[in-house]
Amino acid sequence: MGQAGARRKGRRLQRWDSGGVLGMLPPGDRTLLARPSVEPAAAVPPVPAISLRGVRKRFGAIVAVDGLDLEVPTGTCLGLLGPNGAGKSTTMRLLTAQAIADEGEISVLGYRLPEQSKVARAECGVVPQLDNLDVELSTRQNLAVFARLYRVPRPERRAAVDRALALAGLTERADTRADKLSGGMRRRLLIARGLVHRPRLLLLDEPTVGLDPQVRQELWALIDRLRSEGVTVLMSTHYIEEAERLADTVALMTAGKVIVSGRPTALILEYAGREVAEYYGPPDRLMEVETIALGHGHPTRRTGPSVAVLNAERLSPDTAERLGAGARRPANLEDVFVLLTGEVIE
Ligand SMILES: Nc1ncnc2c1ncn2[C@@H]1O[C@H](COP(=O)(O)OP(=O)(O)OP(=O)(O)O)[C@@H](O)[C@H]1O
Ligand SMILES: [Mg+2]
Repeated sequence: MGQAGARRKGRRLQRWDSGGVLGMLPPGDRTLLARPSVEPAAAVPPVPAISLRGVRKRFGAIVAVDGLDLEVPTGTCLGLLGPNGAGKSTTMRLLTAQAIADEGEISVLGYRLPEQSKVARAECGVVPQLDNLDVELSTRQNLAVFARLYRVPRPERRAAVDRALALAGLTERADTRADKLSGGMRRRLLIARGLVHRPRLLLLDEPTVGLDPQVRQELWALIDRLRSEGVTVLMSTHYIEEAERLADTVALMTAGKVIVSGRPTALILEYAGREVAEYYGPPDRLMEVETIALGHGHPTRRTGPSVAVLNAERLSPDTAERLGAGARRPANLEDVFVLLTGEVIE
């Protein structure tokens, strides 16, 4: 399902949207956030919301980010996909100057990093992969601390927190200590915390891990809506469906580099074609399918007990006959991911 489909679905998803953070202010009113007086490095639009050029980050012998080039245009959603250890979280941390690059250039909302990281960060909403809520504070207190930290003016804070609570569907748990919330509730609180000051840029590191399917879809609707209101979103994810539905652009990262990027539909067409044929059988049979397909220029991928032959719509009648009957399905982004990274997404 594309963005339109996600939007359609979003219409019946009320809980996160109703009276949420998005309703905190009239569109375009950014006075809630006290603006720092530092001028952006380049103020003339269109400045990409995020730009990384030749960025490298080492941790001892490990090169976590290895000459990364990435650009996120303002108002778009970029989905960062990659196997474990690809460098996604490190990239996110570089954008908030929680990690400092060894080489390369980074700008966020037109501000140079790390020099102007403080002002850049004031306009970013950050949802980290690892839960760093203050477990001794209540839900409301966690939000209030961030509202103050992000300089929401004192008279506005209560309303900002109330709306963030509504956004997270946690109004009734406002006084519950964070360590007494369920895993999914904590995740929702973490996300609402990142939105309490109406950021222009949202950095979401695996935002829907541990959420039940319904809440995940509610979050997708929220992200889609934020993006449609002009917020730029950079999101790392292991859920291919999440990237397919939400991201304008997907960047596939492995070993610290982006290996391909583009619109999900374009990447699917380019690397996997329109259709995939799945073949089941004993190991010998699967090897035979692989040999025939590869011999005729069709990439394959193993999916558990089956072999998937990509670009199946272009199989010649002769090759199709030799392969035998396979189950056809539309190609998807996971096919591209597995083909290019050699990894299976869990
Ligand atoms: N603070 C650190 N110290 C040492 N090594 C680190 C540190 N942070 C990350 N790394 C290493 O950098 C590499 C990239 O890690 P990163 O967390 O960026 O990957 P990721 O793509 O987010 O993976 P995942 O999908 O598992 O979250 C890994 O090899 C990791 O062990
Ligand atoms: Mg990570």
